[in-house]
Amino acid sequence: MNILYIGSGFVGACSAAVSADSGHNVLVFDIDKEKIKKLSSGDRDTIESCLFEEGLGDLLVRHKERIDFTTDYGKVEDFLENCDGVFMCLPTPEIGETGESNLEYYYAAAEKLAESLAKRNKGAQEKYIVIINKSTVPIIMVDKTQEILNARGVKNCGVVSNPEFLVEGKAISGSLKPDRVVIGAWAEKDFEIMRAVYQRFYDAPTVEYIEVNPKEAAAGKLLANFYLFNKLAICFDVIGRTCETFSDLQFENIRRILTSDERIGSWGFYDSAYAGGSCFIKDARSLAHQLQTSDQEAIMVNETYLANKRQLEKFIGRAHSEAGVEWRDKKVAVVGLAFKRDTNDTRNAMSIEVVQHLQEHGAAEIKLYDPVAMEMFKGLFPKSDVIKYFDNEFDAIKDSDIIIIGTDWPQFRGLADVIIEKINKNTLLMDGRRMLQHRYDDLQKAGFSIIAVGSPFLKGHLAE
Ligand SMILES: NC(=O)c1ccc[n+]([C@@H]2O[C@H](COP(=O)([O-])OP(=O)(O)OC[C@H]3O[C@@H](n4cnc5c(N)ncnc54)[C@H](O)[C@@H]3O)[C@@H](O)[C@H]2O)c1
Repeated sequence: MNILYIGSGFVGACSAAVSADSGHNVLVFDIDKEKIKKLSSGDRDTIESCLFEEGLGDLLVRHKERIDFTTDYGKVEDFLENCDGVFMCLPTPEIGETGESNLEYYYAAAEKLAESLAKRNKGAQEKYIVIINKSTVPIIMVDKTQEILNARGVKNCGVVSNPEFLVEGKAISGSLKPDRVVIGAWAEKDFEIMRAVYQRFYDAPTVEYIEVNPKEAAAGKLLANFYLFNKLAICFDVIGRTCETFSDLQFENIRRILTSDERIGSWGFYDSAYAGGSCFIKDARSLAHQLQTSDQEAIMVNETYLANKRQLEKFIGRAHSEAGVEWRDKKVAVVGLAFKRDTNDTRNAMSIEVVQHLQEHGAAEIKLYDPVAMEMFKGLFPKSDVIKYFDNEFDAIKDSDIIIIGTDWPQFRGLADVIIEKINKNTLLMDGRRMLQHRYDDLQKAGFSIIAVGSPFLKGHLAE
């Protein structure tokens, strides 16, 4: 099949690569010239410097005959002449702090597409085509998309909702072996086309292939994200804080008690303070906004959002309230800038709030390191006399008054020995991910004080 992707971010690029791997002929359009240049470079390192997703570079290189990237809309119009489906993979961020989704990117792309669709096949529009919504959008979006198409006189066209459930950091492996594929459509014809698009999953014994209507598909995505977000909030706002409050409660032991109940499950218990990323926060905000603008209360949805926010404020605040830290003139290392491991995505990362807090409170030096997210982060916080970037975690943490671990990169688990051997014992350790929990005792014995999510203040033995 001939498939067009509009938007080549984490979702567009990864699902386009999997589409090519499924044997389709794929064109990807984006307005970001730099991104398109890198994604079409044919070089794994260059591809990863823009979108770090394990396996993405390999797939794009392997299928370069079947996948093309462009910023030229003329190419898109040619492709539409014989195109079977268009995946809309546009960003839908929150407008300020209103909860409302910013649909301007989506509308801009949809209106341009509708104009071109109306012109296809010399205006005859003979070939049937489906417009497939992959962005996470409001529940009623299918109606809006249809209105845009109708207004431009587009014929022979269906609108489908196919929300994306990929997990950043595992986007390719997850998309090659998804747990579910959700297709929302009104017409059998549209379901048939989507079965052909997803033939490899439609017949797969391990994939739940779910056909529903487009509003159920869009609502299912928002609600799934809210459910997961709520689990994270419970894990660290309720369970973590309980372990911080009462002595002799080891978070890992409480975790074992809880996660051995299969109704509770283990997902989220390993993530630690603050759920960042591009989706959970804005999707919960959008869900609350949609409920409230439909005359419903959204107390629980809003409270989950606030609980997540409070966790981070609390974690940062503990430096002062428990260890008496004044940030002014301090040298602070922040290792781990991505919102979680295995991605270079820094959207809503804990590190952003931390660095802003340090800037506002007059830290002398903010020493930053991440294995893959530094380029993204430099776009937000350029190098300066205060903001410094380091090539590895060891150089970043040297000569610091405070070390903050912000991402659960596995390599940070091995930092305890270096800290014990080479770092001044007066340095405060702030472990936002419990990365060093297996060595807290040793670190305390060596004299280090530790503030860790899920633990009470752990005073260094020399400091007692
Ligand atoms: N990132 C995730 O883990 C994830 C998972 C599931 C769903 N989603 C949803 O998928 C959607 C896309 O997310 P993402 O993370 O890929 O976003 P992204 O910001 O990484 O990518 C969006 C891309 O769209 C491009 N774009 C903007 N306006 C355009 C236009 N008019 N024409 C063509 N391209 C345009 C941007 O340049 C960018 O490359 C969002 O609605 C998001 O909520 C994301």
